[in-house]
Amino acid sequence: MATELRLPMKTFTKPLALSLALSAALAAPAWADPAAFTVLTLEQAPGAEAMPALAAQLKSLKVDAVSVRQVQRGIGQVDPLQVLADGLGYEYRFIAAGKDDDQTQRGQAVLTRLPIAAESGPDQPGLNYLRLDDGRHTVAVYTDAGAGAAQLPALVTRSRLGAPAVLLGAVAGESATAAGFDPARVALEADASYFSDGFQAASSAPFKVEGSSLRATLLTLAYVADKGGEQPWMDTTLNADARAALLLKAMTEDEKFQMLHSYFGLGKDGGPLPEGAVGSAGFVPAVPRLGIPSQQSADAGVGVTNPGGIRPGDFATAMPSGPSTASSWNREVAFAGGATMGREAWQQRFNILLSGSVNLQRDPRNGRNFEYAGEDPLLAGSMVGALIQGVQSQHVISSMKHFALNDMETRRNFHDVRIGEQAMHESDLLAFEIALEAGRPGVAMCSYNKINGTYGCENGYLMNQVLKQEWKFPGFVMSDWGGVHSGSKAALAGLDQQSAGEVFDAAVFFDEPLRLAVHGGVVPQARLNDMVARILRTMFLHGNFDNPPQHQKVDAEAGFAVAQRTVEEGSVLLRNEGNLLPLADSVKRIVIIGGHADKGVIGGGGSSMVGVTAKGTNAVPGVLPTTWPGPVIFHPSSPLESLRAARPDATIEYVDGSNAAAAAKAAAQADVAIVFATQWAAESVDLPDMQLPDNQDALISAVAKANPKTVLVLETNGPVRTPWLAQVPAMLQAWYPGIRGGEGIAALLTGQVNPSGRLPVTWVVDESQLPRPHIDGLGFKPAKPFGDVFDFDIEGANVGYKWMAAKGLTPTFAFGHGLSYTTFAYENLKVSVEGSRLVASVDIRNTGKRAGADVAQLYLKLPADSTTPIRLIGYDKVNLQPGEQRRIRIEAEPKTLAHYDAQARQWKIDGGTYQVQLSRNAAEPLQSVDVQLVEQVLR
Ligand code: BGC
Repeated sequence: MATELRLPMKTFTKPLALSLALSAALAAPAWADPAAFTVLTLEQAPGAEAMPALAAQLKSLKVDAVSVRQVQRGIGQVDPLQVLADGLGYEYRFIAAGKDDDQTQRGQAVLTRLPIAAESGPDQPGLNYLRLDDGRHTVAVYTDAGAGAAQLPALVTRSRLGAPAVLLGAVAGESATAAGFDPARVALEADASYFSDGFQAASSAPFKVEGSSLRATLLTLAYVADKGGEQPWMDTTLNADARAALLLKAMTEDEKFQMLHSYFGLGKDGGPLPEGAVGSAGFVPAVPRLGIPSQQSADAGVGVTNPGGIRPGDFATAMPSGPSTASSWNREVAFAGGATMGREAWQQRFNILLSGSVNLQRDPRNGRNFEYAGEDPLLAGSMVGALIQGVQSQHVISSMKHFALNDMETRRNFHDVRIGEQAMHESDLLAFEIALEAGRPGVAMCSYNKINGTYGCENGYLMNQVLKQEWKFPGFVMSDWGGVHSGSKAALAGLDQQSAGEVFDAAVFFDEPLRLAVHGGVVPQARLNDMVARILRTMFLHGNFDNPPQHQKVDAEAGFAVAQRTVEEGSVLLRNEGNLLPLADSVKRIVIIGGHADKGVIGGGGSSMVGVTAKGTNAVPGVLPTTWPGPVIFHPSSPLESLRAARPDATIEYVDGSNAAAAAKAAAQADVAIVFATQWAAESVDLPDMQLPDNQDALISAVAKANPKTVLVLETNGPVRTPWLAQVPAMLQAWYPGIRGGEGIAALLTGQVNPSGRLPVTWVVDESQLPRPHIDGLGFKPAKPFGDVFDFDIEGANVGYKWMAAKGLTPTFAFGHGLSYTTFAYENLKVSVEGSRLVASVDIRNTGKRAGADVAQLYLKLPADSTTPIRLIGYDKVNLQPGEQRRIRIEAEPKTLAHYDAQARQWKIDGGTYQVQLSRNAAEPLQSVDVQLVEQVLR
């Protein structure tokens, strides 16, 4: 870190005009000029005490951005740049650009007066940008690409979306030029800056900060003149809202209504595909007269589907299931998965991917848990947000769904979820809110179910008030397929587009019925325009006009690599008594039992199923059900073959497990037995209970009895009952591990990869520990019908570990639990609080003999009278070599410190003493510190 510069305070007394006049060689700066973008670069930030005076000096310059190369920020100390940002009223961001060898975080701080339209996160190295919106232009600001400079060209084409871009900082000039950037004329060699199309000229000059030797440069970039012409909305220097507004003006009423409803992309009743449809979930025809592209949407969250192989020749990566990605506790993994799916969607001609599933896991019996990201709003929201960001980095719009509280599948089109406003905001809605902030999805998909008596797609409270007003969602709300029950009522409640109503709803409400409502004045013309504008601005923003999809061959190997990394980071080693794993070299005879592990790994059923991959389709066809929500799929990735490849020195046999006695006999003759147990779950139906199906409990018990060295690999929707737990020394939860499941599991069992997954859900002992121990009507053939009401007020916001803590229950495995082949120790937890900003730092050390990653989890124990006892407030995954120690920093998500005041519609922190715990899992604090929080409202 560079040394701190100190500015004498008294020198900031001259009138600004004079100080500007004295500034050397200012080349006609355009202060707050709409025709130019201005950036002031400071080589080094002065200390906090000098900032108010600097802010005063910079205030009337109104530069669009202040970029700072070096700053000293210490834990527990006031961040000088925050003081400057507050003084200027600017937004403040640190744009990370990778770490130096000594683990110093490189990057640049950027303060801006413009709204931030999108930004990269610290977890996406190489994607170091901010997109700023001045109301007319969207400008992408990139900072020091550092080691990632070589990827710059790809990065720019992927994320620039036609916006004029400026590249600040010490970047290899060659890469910048290769990426299509022109060098700006710069006053100082070291301040190399580059600009892209969209700007026509740049000039820079040293800027003298009065009374200091601070080095500063002012860069002025002039925009190219508007293109105008016949299709002025195609002027890429305009921002998405401006382009949408221009286009809207040119549209006829018919063209507007065409935007408001999609067709089923697979055709009606087995008939031909709608003309122009690529073949998948949804399709809105193009308007060639105006150059509006068609909307082609595909499912979904674990890869691009190809239902029934409708698009011959297309295949995609079957990614591991949602809980697998969530178990990685690594936003980079989620981003990479999203980027893979987004890229493959684009290459298969889709511009919308119906990904971003973030419903909370309230119950292990929910049939769709495998699509979601666990029980905690912070973990689920941040991981799914990163995934959405990944999808949208590829010119593909992502949804977030199913909004909201579609947490069970039983009679999903009819059931009513009852839950209070505060509780819903602090649980499911918080997950959506965090996903929205992190990922900025272009689409929100409203859900089938009723929420407090009103259907999701007619719910004005959720769509208008919460999503659009409180959260300022600028995108559009699309219905789930079969979720619309009205025209004007739904439109007035905030629904913008009806999906495939001709097939799934009683009527295409958003065509004739809505037209009548608009003509009759029931739905204002302004609302109609708002619906269309939201759709168009989303399409502009995500490149649907400027970077339309192109049919290209998917890079199978690239997809496999991301899928495998996800299994490796997302499988959870639950138990490892006597260090049975990793398999020792002395283990020479291995028997693998059950789960079709000779052929592949199981996947979940329903609309999200990725059935066609580069390695073929179903490895085990014929398993019932073979029709919706089936077929049951086994992805062709054999754990048996992968283990044989990883351990060529061992004899590895396979027994199918259909006969427990035969399996036990084979196990008795082996050094180690590995049982694979599976549980299929699917959309539209919940699991009847938490028991493994098909007598697998008996199989596991018999094998474990025959050989005490039994390893269990689970491929399940989520937690199951474990009656044999005491007999089974080692357990690996692999969820639904996707197309590289076999390879990933083998790498983990043999120790080629050290497990680092942590549970995103509480592994309850059995149903008796759940808020609703018994529910009538679950499963395919329920004995009793379901009552159509889910009373979520029982647990309210206390989902999962919060419920366990409130009730004093001990689970089989706690939320956040997961073992490693090495060990970690934590020391010196320090927590600083400034307003709603809580930052913890702690030393973490790998005390074992293998490299590995641990997940440092930060929890807040709330005061005794709070409705919720404990919350996850932050986390960080850290890779460490044996013996390596690092000090890490975790910043808490402010909303997790607060409660939602439903009356005031605000997040408020209650003043008082709280305990911050650095924990191994939700039930195992390692270090704790008491902190005082001051009563306050979050901005
Ligand atoms: C599912 C959605 C899916 C849609 C389109 C619905 O049944 O609930 O998640 O995106 O179908 O296939």
